[in-house]
Amino acid sequence: MLENLRSTLRFQPITVNRTQRDLDRAANIDDLRTIAKRRLPGGVFDYIDGGADDEITLRNNTDRFDDWEFRPRVLRDVEHIDTSTTLLGKRIPLPLVMAPTGFSRIGTSGGELDTSRAAAGRGIPYSLSSLSTRSIEEVAEVCDGPKWFQVYVWRDRGLVKEVVQRAQRAGYEAIAVTVDLQTLGRRERDVRRGFTLPPKLGLDTIIDGIRHPGWTWDFIRSEPILFANITGSDQSDGTDATALADYIANQLDPTLNWDDVAWFREIWDGPIVIKGVQTVEDAKIAADLGLEAVALSNHGGRQLDHSPSPIELVPQVRDAIGDSMQIICDGGIRRGTHIAKAIALGADACMAGRAYLYGLGAGGEAGVDKALGFLHDELVRAMTLLGVTNVSELDRDLLRELDRT
Ligand code: GLV
Repeated sequence: MLENLRSTLRFQPITVNRTQRDLDRAANIDDLRTIAKRRLPGGVFDYIDGGADDEITLRNNTDRFDDWEFRPRVLRDVEHIDTSTTLLGKRIPLPLVMAPTGFSRIGTSGGELDTSRAAAGRGIPYSLSSLSTRSIEEVAEVCDGPKWFQVYVWRDRGLVKEVVQRAQRAGYEAIAVTVDLQTLGRRERDVRRGFTLPPKLGLDTIIDGIRHPGWTWDFIRSEPILFANITGSDQSDGTDATALADYIANQLDPTLNWDDVAWFREIWDGPIVIKGVQTVEDAKIAADLGLEAVALSNHGGRQLDHSPSPIELVPQVRDAIGDSMQIICDGGIRRGTHIAKAIALGADACMAGRAYLYGLGAGGEAGVDKALGFLHDELVRAMTLLGVTNVSELDRDLLRELDRT
């Protein structure tokens, strides 16, 4: 009988480290989200997870991928799958860019150092936010992979020029100018919680903190969270806790317009991506101006609710502009199958933000790596089962639009 028991019982080796154990058991990005929700204080989790108003766009960004069904082809030799592609003239291992996300140090004290190191580990381009909590130079020091710099246009154009030129000197390869933050979308979860950046310690945050001791210990031991790229400038660098909406209203330049593209060409020598394009008309203007790429994006559903989902826009924009400019699909990516669909519909690459922030919240750098690993492995599996070995073979013949009427 003992022999019988021995042959049926299989114990996994016990992993003592709780974070590692949680990561080992996660099966997908959604599991990382669940772990992050448990580990992070409610206000921090909701800032990352939430969207504007009724969060219709937030949900749609992912749900609209379900409007397409695959048409897998069989009996094709799929022994060697190559997920690499060319974006902005550079070969990258996966059609994926890590989206710029501000304030990453609210996830872990390493913040952007953790996220960018994980990106470099996989050779995936990392976009550093203007409103990052680790500086351009600090990130360049730890991240030897491809790097982009995301630009918010402050009213003080001298400051914009200075940070962009610092990014150039530090070896960043492209800038992504975000154009959908003319005013801050109303994230009602943050309003209800009175969430500020950096998080301030009030009674409710202290209680929340006690319930999340791992995060709180990490937070109180580390140096204050500031906007690391502009510390000491005239702009508010985050020394005072502030509602993000006030910061945006006071500091960012609402006069930003298409004529400024010429100014960016003067201050930046390299590819320019316009991030936040939401119509075919604007994509055409960007293509006519000779921009290298647009990121079709509604800022992860955090700005104008009821905006179109990027995946809906991809085929329309590709049909309108042909091959004149590269297209990045930014929003809702949680699965390798989502990447496969976006590419098949005409995107050159995808951008994902929350997907890796859930990993950061769940387990720091290892969690981000886990998130990127899921997306990579799922894309490989999808391509294998679709019967394609190369990203360039992902095309519309592999998809059928479902009739949801
Ligand atoms: C900032 O860009 C945000 O979306 O919170």
